[in-house]
Amino acid sequence: MRSRNWFAREGKDGIIYRAWMKNQGIPAHHFEGKPVIGICNTWSELTPCNAHFRELAQKVKNGIYEAGGFPVEFPVMSTGETLIKPTAMLYRNLVSMDVEESIRANPLDGVVLLCGCDKTTPSLVMGACSVDIPTIVVSGGPMLTGKYRGTNISTSDLWRFSEAQRMGEITQKDMQEVEAGMCRSAGHCGVMGTASTMACMVESLGLSLPGNAAIPAVDSNRRVLAHHSGMRIVEMVKENLTLSKILTREAFENAIIVNTAIGGSTNFVLHLLAIAGRIGVELTLDDMNNLAKDIPLLLNLQPSGEYFMEDFYYAGGLPAVLKELDKYLRGQVITVNGHTMKENFSMAKSYNDRVISPIDQPVNTVSGVAVLKGNLCPDGAVLKLSAASPELMKHKGQAIVFEDIDDYKNRINDPELPATADSVLVLKQVGPVGYPGMPEVGNLGLPPKLLLEGVRDMVRISDGRMSGTGFGTCILHVSPESAVGGPLAIVRDGDWIELDVPARSLNLLLSQEEINERLANTPQFNGIVDRGYVRLHQTHVEQAHLGADLDFLKGGSGSKVTRDSH
Ligand code: FES
Repeated sequence: MRSRNWFAREGKDGIIYRAWMKNQGIPAHHFEGKPVIGICNTWSELTPCNAHFRELAQKVKNGIYEAGGFPVEFPVMSTGETLIKPTAMLYRNLVSMDVEESIRANPLDGVVLLCGCDKTTPSLVMGACSVDIPTIVVSGGPMLTGKYRGTNISTSDLWRFSEAQRMGEITQKDMQEVEAGMCRSAGHCGVMGTASTMACMVESLGLSLPGNAAIPAVDSNRRVLAHHSGMRIVEMVKENLTLSKILTREAFENAIIVNTAIGGSTNFVLHLLAIAGRIGVELTLDDMNNLAKDIPLLLNLQPSGEYFMEDFYYAGGLPAVLKELDKYLRGQVITVNGHTMKENFSMAKSYNDRVISPIDQPVNTVSGVAVLKGNLCPDGAVLKLSAASPELMKHKGQAIVFEDIDDYKNRINDPELPATADSVLVLKQVGPVGYPGMPEVGNLGLPPKLLLEGVRDMVRISDGRMSGTGFGTCILHVSPESAVGGPLAIVRDGDWIELDVPARSLNLLLSQEEINERLANTPQFNGIVDRGYVRLHQTHVEQAHLGADLDFLKGGSGSKVTRDSH
């Protein structure tokens, strides 16, 4: 065990390693060969979705103690979606560095990752992959369903309420009631937003115990799962069940299939590609199209459907979805509990067909994240099919161009904006380098004058992202982005754009000569900042089609400590 290189040492070094730890009241027998298990905690009062993690960590510790391990909890940078500016995505890779170095540098034999709000899951998994010791994920769980005047609501409804307020359909007083009833308990967003998508991702990759994804944060079974996860990681250390033994190509294929069936967030694409890059599995955007093409939508959850994560749990949780997907999944893959995926879901059952539909009666035969290619996005762009309007799947319209997010904010409410329902709204400079950090602004609010006419969806294109709780015909992650010379940069007002989702294409209807001439005359981006982490990010971040990781973080360095100063 790695920890023996610290705690089993004789002489002065061994005393240093043990004596300072003993100032926490740790008894001597804890240093006599027990597996040392790190609990990587993203608790922060600035990350409200993870604010209950101290209690969860205690349950994990109880399990570790019961199994004969020695738990040590440590903090890493925590990124909450709601408060952090300019966008939590800017810091995903920074957190992953914190996690990687914290694990490798310390006497840990195994690690439990406590993940909740959107970016806290991929960043922790990415960092752990680059070390590759036995690792298990415990998600924080979703909030209870929100309530508003006798109806069920969620954070996904915020977009709808916000549009209604802009239209004068509801008042400020109504909005205060929405605010008071939306987030009723500890936990992350209670719909199939990005946090829930990430929880399903880790379960479908085999990185968590079965059932982890859907148990509400405040349900006592969440704490039981944390306890069991603590017990299990001690066994995983004894079995040397490392991440790379679980995260095979087949495990990633399962995650893509499951994400399609649950109507998961488009952010899944970025994070899965980045995780694959860390563990050394070949995965491309094209895999998303190929593996998803026959998979229907089985889960009837907001924002693609009607129900909430709480309902998902009562209906059987992710194991019930996996059971329905049996014929598509690579069921032989091993998971953290030492059993195969198929063994784990074999006894699962859907208790509510309206929430988890049978495979032969899906909620929607169309689902998943479509990957588009064309002269406007040579390296790809994504569109969430289950959140888009069927009538816009083949669409030709003229561009209304916003040069950046400030330009959009300044002009979207202008009654003179020459937009019609057929226009295509184009937003530039919101990519990984340009914004920087790729914010969730891709589901642009529609011009009020069109909302008044009853328009509820339009084709929107950007190099940014969209919240997992958002919806609409929003083409996202356009790659290469406008700031690095992608063709999005050359789009002008009035240009014709053609979207053909069945053909998976997105094109600017200009001759190649015109495109080349415009590209040659587009000014270079001059927004690289002078110093600090943001400069590191802007000068090393890869484009969205590769997962937007920093180029020098790809792969791993293993768990070996190369220098020993004591
Ligand atoms: Fe944290 Fe939605 S804001 S999960």
